[in-house]
Amino acid sequence: MPKNKLKKFNEYESFTNTYDARNQFRGKWHTEVFKNNNPITLELACGRGEYTVALAQMYPKRNFIGLDVKASRMWQGAKFSLENDLPNVAFLRIQIDFLNDFFANGEVEELWITFPDPQPQKTREKQRLTSPKFLGKYAQLLGNYKFINLKTDSDFLFKYTLDTLVDKPVQINELYLNIDELDEMKPELKVKTYYEKMWREKGIIIKYLKFQFI
Ligand SMILES: C[S@@+](CC[C@H](N)C(=O)[O-])C[C@H]1O[C@@H](n2cnc3c(N)ncnc32)[C@H](O)[C@@H]1O
Repeated sequence: MPKNKLKKFNEYESFTNTYDARNQFRGKWHTEVFKNNNPITLELACGRGEYTVALAQMYPKRNFIGLDVKASRMWQGAKFSLENDLPNVAFLRIQIDFLNDFFANGEVEELWITFPDPQPQKTREKQRLTSPKFLGKYAQLLGNYKFINLKTDSDFLFKYTLDTLVDKPVQINELYLNIDELDEMKPELKVKTYYEKMWREKGIIIKYLKFQFI
C-alpha cells in the first residue's frame, strides 16, 4: 500500500468514530454507538463520505453512517467529523455484501447510494449496487416504506436500475434524468461528492432516483 494510503488507513483505525468488521453492533447501533434513538441513514459506497457528513450537518437529530471498503477514503469524512464535533457520524469499513450481518432488520431508516461503480461488464452484474442481489439485501434491512436514494453519473446504471425495479414491489418517489433542470433543487441534492465533481467537469449529467419498497 502506498505510504500516504497506509498513513490514512492507520489513522482511520485510531479514530473514535470508525468501525470495521471486527466491531459487531448489529441491533445495537442506537444504544452502543450513537447513544440515542434517532433514525439512522446509511450511505453506501460512501468514498470520502461527503453525503454522510453534509447530511449529518443538515440533520443533527438523525444519525449517519458511511460505508465503504476503503479506509483511506473514509479517513477524510471521519477526520472532518471529529474535528467539527459531529457526534451523529460514524464510518464502517466492510463489503456492502455483508450489510445484513452488521445491521439488524429495521435498524436503518434510509439509504443513499452515491455514484457507485456502474460495473457495465455483464460478468460484473452481481457487483452493481442495484442488482437484484443487493436490492434483496436492502429490502431485508429496511422493510417497506423506507427511502432509497440513488445519485449517479451513469446512464447505463440508471437505466439498469429502473429495468431491475420494474417487476419489484416498489414505488418510485422521485426520478430526475438531469438534476440541474429542476426548478428548485432540494438541499440534499446540492451536496457534491468527489466523483460528482469529477463527472461534472467532464460535462456528465447527474441523475437521481428515490424509491421505496411497498
Ligand atoms: C466511484 S466510487 C464513489 C465514491 C463516492 N460515493 C463519491 O461519489 O465520491 C465507488 C466507491 O464504492 C466502493 N465500493 C464498491 N463496491 C463496494 C462494496 N461491495 N462494498 C463496499 N464498498 C464498495 C469503492 O471502494 C468506492 O469508494
